[in-house]
Amino acid sequence: MDYRELLAKAKEVSQNAYVPYSKFKVGACVLTEDGSTFCGCNFENVSYGLTICAERNAIGTAIANGQTKIQAIAIYSPNEDNCVPCGACRQVLAEFKCDEVITEVKGEPKVYKLNYLIPESFQF
Ligand code: THU
Repeated sequence: MDYRELLAKAKEVSQNAYVPYSKFKVGACVLTEDGSTFCGCNFENVSYGLTICAERNAIGTAIANGQTKIQAIAIYSPNEDNCVPCGACRQVLAEFKCDEVITEVKGEPKVYKLNYLIPESFQF
């Protein structure tokens, strides 16, 4: 799957973000080893700390569909160019060895290696 296609899916799902507090919409789409894609958006809560990021929502959906081999994730926000994952999501991406993280910068895909975003991630 082309990175642009993956970003387009992330962009589409970002429209469904439930963000009454931050107004900051995020969409994410993961690509799994068998070529399937799974999308997620962020959704917030009046108890702010319960907010779920788009990345973890997308990964959870992949897991719920029996897919744990995650190759790449595209992340998109209409509010921010180059929307990179937060620290918590980076650790979750490391759990599933998601090798590539794709963002959009000035309309073009930008590819980060996970090891660049979270070197020396916790493992045991
Ligand atoms: N957010 C994400 O969905 N992904 C990230 O990696 C960073 C932050 C969400 C959480 C919250 O709903 C909003 O963006 C502002 O922090």
